[in-house]
Amino acid sequence: MNHPLISLPSVENTNAWAKEHLDRFGAFGAVYTTSQTAGRGRLGRTWVNAAGQALYYSCVVREPLVQPETLPLLACLVTAKVLHGRYGIDCRIKWPNDLLLNGKKIVGILCEGVPDKGAWIMGIGINLAQPQSYFDQAGLPHGASLLTSGVPVQVERDADILAAGLTEPGFSAVMPRFAKEGIEPFLSDYRTHCVNLGRHVSYDGGEGTALDVDKDGRLVVSDDATGEHRIFSGEVSVRGVYGAV
Ligand code: BTN
Repeated sequence: MNHPLISLPSVENTNAWAKEHLDRFGAFGAVYTTSQTAGRGRLGRTWVNAAGQALYYSCVVREPLVQPETLPLLACLVTAKVLHGRYGIDCRIKWPNDLLLNGKKIVGILCEGVPDKGAWIMGIGINLAQPQSYFDQAGLPHGASLLTSGVPVQVERDADILAAGLTEPGFSAVMPRFAKEGIEPFLSDYRTHCVNLGRHVSYDGGEGTALDVDKDGRLVVSDDATGEHRIFSGEVSVRGVYGAV
């Protein structure tokens, strides 16, 4: 089936554009660009623009989801697979939804709901061809692009190919099952990509060893002193990742 896939030369940010133009997508579709003038990241942060050097993509789903809060996990799994299919690279997932290549962040994901319209938006930023100087100047020591990771990219062509692949088969292939069953059918795959598991992690309120991702998408952390904790949101640092100790 052909789903709407809208390409824009530049936009404030694709999530906001998607929210304002929900009717353009029907039940499922996507919008993308290689230039955002007001990108947004998780936890209220800015997502710095890299005009002509990155892909900014938002997928819109307008159907009931049994477990919308786990969309970020699905989004990073699908993105990892699309990147593997295109470049043969194996990204790791830093729970809940950063994608790492060689220990550096190359993808960020921001999922949002529009409850009154019954819509969900998965916003995905993929660093394609920023040079190292971009990350230095932006103060992003743990960021990388495919280019700085040694992956050959042709931005405009690859942005089109990746956006198409994320949409179809990408999200369209998994969405019917995800809508009805949530993240559980995808969990074993998610776990094999997840860099947190078996490692020491710190989160707001504690630390311990990350043991699992449960069927609700929570990170299960065990601490000898305080027992088991299930974390659903916030920042988690992983020993050995992004310089965390
Ligand atoms: C993060 O890691 O903080 C999340 C970054 C999310 C970036 C994507 S790019 C497409 C969409 N548009 C935005 O401004 N943000 C999301």
